[in-house]
Amino acid sequence: MDTEKLFSIIPIKNIKGVLPKSVTDIAVDSRAVSAGGVFVCIEGFTVDGHSFVQKAVDQGARVIVASKPVAVDLEKVAVVYVKNTDRAIALLAPHFYQYPSKRMTMIGVTGTNGKTSVSNMIHTILQHTGERSAVTGTIGFNLDGTLMETENTTTDVLTTQKMIHQAAEADCSTMTMEVSSHGLVEGRLAGTEFDIAVFTNLTHDHLDFHGTMDNYGHAKGLLFAQLGQDLSQRKFVVLNADEPWSERMEKMTSYPVLSYGIRREADFRARDIVLSPDGTSFKMETPVGDFTVRMNVIGEFNVYNALAATAALFAKGMEMEDIINGLSVIPAAKGRMEKVETDLPLTIYVDYAHSPDAIEKAINAVLPYKKAEQKLIFVIGTGGNRDRKKRPIMAEKASIADYVILTTDDPRDEPYESILSELEAGMAHKRYAAIGDRAEAVKHAVSVADAGDIIIFAGKGHEDFQIVGHEKLPHSDAAIALEEAERKFRKGFIETE
Ligand SMILES: Nc1ncnc2c1ncn2[C@@H]1O[C@H](COP(=O)(O)OP(=O)(O)O)[C@@H](O)[C@H]1O
Ligand SMILES: [Mg+2]
Repeated sequence: MDTEKLFSIIPIKNIKGVLPKSVTDIAVDSRAVSAGGVFVCIEGFTVDGHSFVQKAVDQGARVIVASKPVAVDLEKVAVVYVKNTDRAIALLAPHFYQYPSKRMTMIGVTGTNGKTSVSNMIHTILQHTGERSAVTGTIGFNLDGTLMETENTTTDVLTTQKMIHQAAEADCSTMTMEVSSHGLVEGRLAGTEFDIAVFTNLTHDHLDFHGTMDNYGHAKGLLFAQLGQDLSQRKFVVLNADEPWSERMEKMTSYPVLSYGIRREADFRARDIVLSPDGTSFKMETPVGDFTVRMNVIGEFNVYNALAATAALFAKGMEMEDIINGLSVIPAAKGRMEKVETDLPLTIYVDYAHSPDAIEKAINAVLPYKKAEQKLIFVIGTGGNRDRKKRPIMAEKASIADYVILTTDDPRDEPYESILSELEAGMAHKRYAAIGDRAEAVKHAVSVADAGDIIIFAGKGHEDFQIVGHEKLPHSDAAIALEEAERKFRKGFIETE
């Protein structure tokens, strides 16, 4: 890109050295700098980009953007000094990629729970009709079936713009993004212009970061406020009518609202819901008539997710018939009440619930069809060094299960004892065990199970690791459980080790 044009977008304090005519790339990680590129020094939580300037130059950087003095050979590189490099990258990134979000229909999904599920439903339904679509979030960046890993649910501003650019270049007509409250507050969505903003729900989570529910609600609301004020544009807001915080989100935007829900009047409303272990069916009332929906995903929470996805796609202009057809093929999002395939006499689900509300929803997904003779065993852990207030509330919700195993989910530097005792404080009954080592906890779940029982492993979902100390160790609830179940339930099972 033409260097002068690129830098015309930011306020500059001064320039040292001579700017090249054009630059090839832009990076905030010195390892990602390419020859002839720009390196922007960002001060992160743990490292300061200003200390990596020489590395960037060695990699071929031609321009450095800095807010503090940097020593470089001005014969080789130019330095652009700005007041604040965070603000500089927020402006430079979308400008460099020529505002790719304007070239597609952008759908943003926010809320405490359901973001991954709703965004993947939208993506799957779009693909089912043959549309090119991309989706990004906790599970990664999925472009035309190729999945690339992402570091966070909402990536940094440069990565975000780069992904949107890649999707636009691949001729995707829609990109759906999971939008986290952290991402919104930290400005990682600068330059991302959404057309449709979807709200799932707001319940207790991340209060270590936001402090109060009010701040947390406000953070989520930014997605709606940031839709802008150009009301000549066709933009929509999709809100959950059964969620009290929706009223607040509605006040934060002037764009038209499409509502969805089960319990209250809504534009998209589900009735006659039938939950079964293998799927869900219901009648959907919509502004254009009633439809019968059959889905392979389980739990009432997925009815909400399906309604949210439907309203978003309807806002985009998709035919209802196509949406209903698409809903019939959506698989469970990876690690979201995902049934583990086995012919052993156990029903095992892997789930990502790690907030009190999600735990309640996960358990309620199986209760309607659980028989009296079946036990529901629920394994739940919390992370170390994170939101401690939610621990007892999580255990209290988990108490709905017949037997609960309290454990850890990425204990990090925190000792097992404090995690477990804070969880135990919330237990409503004594039918539980507290086991810090997650692998042992999983084995214990199988050991207390009788043939026919149901086990839900919550918290890890799609993740295949456990963070202990500063190490990321491989871990799979499903693999450990299956191995243990083979040993216990398979007739003639022979130990191989
Ligand atoms: N609409 C919903 N309401 C409440 N809980 C939900 C909802 N959708 C999913 N869940 C629960 O929350 C967990 C996380 O779901 P996910 O779609 O990954 O949400 P997010 O991306 O917002 O974290 C799931 O495993 C499930 O237990
Ligand atoms: Mg997610």
